[in-house]
Amino acid sequence: MTVWAVLAAAGSGERLGLDRPKAFANLRVRPLLAEPLERLDASGWVDAIVVAVPAGWEEPAILLAEEVGAGKVVAAVTGGATRADSVRAAVEEVPDDAAIILVHDAARPLVDDAVIERVLRPLAEGWHGAVPALPMADTVKRIRGTEVVETVDRSDLVAAQTPQAFLADVLRTALGGDVAGATDCASLVEAADGRVAVVPGDRRLVKVTEPDDLELVASMLAG
Ligand code: C5P
Repeated sequence: MTVWAVLAAAGSGERLGLDRPKAFANLRVRPLLAEPLERLDASGWVDAIVVAVPAGWEEPAILLAEEVGAGKVVAAVTGGATRADSVRAAVEEVPDDAAIILVHDAARPLVDDAVIERVLRPLAEGWHGAVPALPMADTVKRIRGTEVVETVDRSDLVAAQTPQAFLADVLRTALGGDVAGATDCASLVEAADGRVAVVPGDRRLVKVTEPDDLELVASMLAG
């Protein structure tokens, strides 16, 4: 079965306060994007990779892929206004005979083979998709402005990460619907009545959002 990885790397990096997109922020001595590109390329599960980057960064992305020896990268496409738009643009490059699409956030650089294997396995067991997730460690509250409205029972809540794996045709159909407001691809598949399995996530898959997160991921790389 052919597995294509789609790497969503078209975020702006505004919250990092940079003059460059987040994917090109410095993670130790390299652009952040180098890390997930290299790791997906090294995965025995992944056959090919399409990366979505902000307009104007397609060529730097291809050059970076060449620099890190990521020979499975077949295209760098222009992302869209939202994450779902970027994923959709990348999925358009995936050939019809691909069986599975693995969608990953470039902002979670420390992807590894173990979590890829965990999300792929349910697809062989009849699931339409699979997401890695972690239990909620903190107490979860619903708020309105600055006021707490209620404390939510967290026992059946998890925090979803990427990489997320999907049967290719299921993901394509889900992306063809209304994608406004979607923060991950699984939510689109769920909305289309797809069955999505949950598998253990990985604490190292933190999402780089604030400047401190870059330091955290850099320290994890060093450790
Ligand atoms: O913005 P956020 O951190 O939620 O983005 C998650 C992932 O989606 C990041 O890897 C980011 O580059 C990507 N993204 C994208 N296109 C957008 C917005 C975000 O590919 N328009």
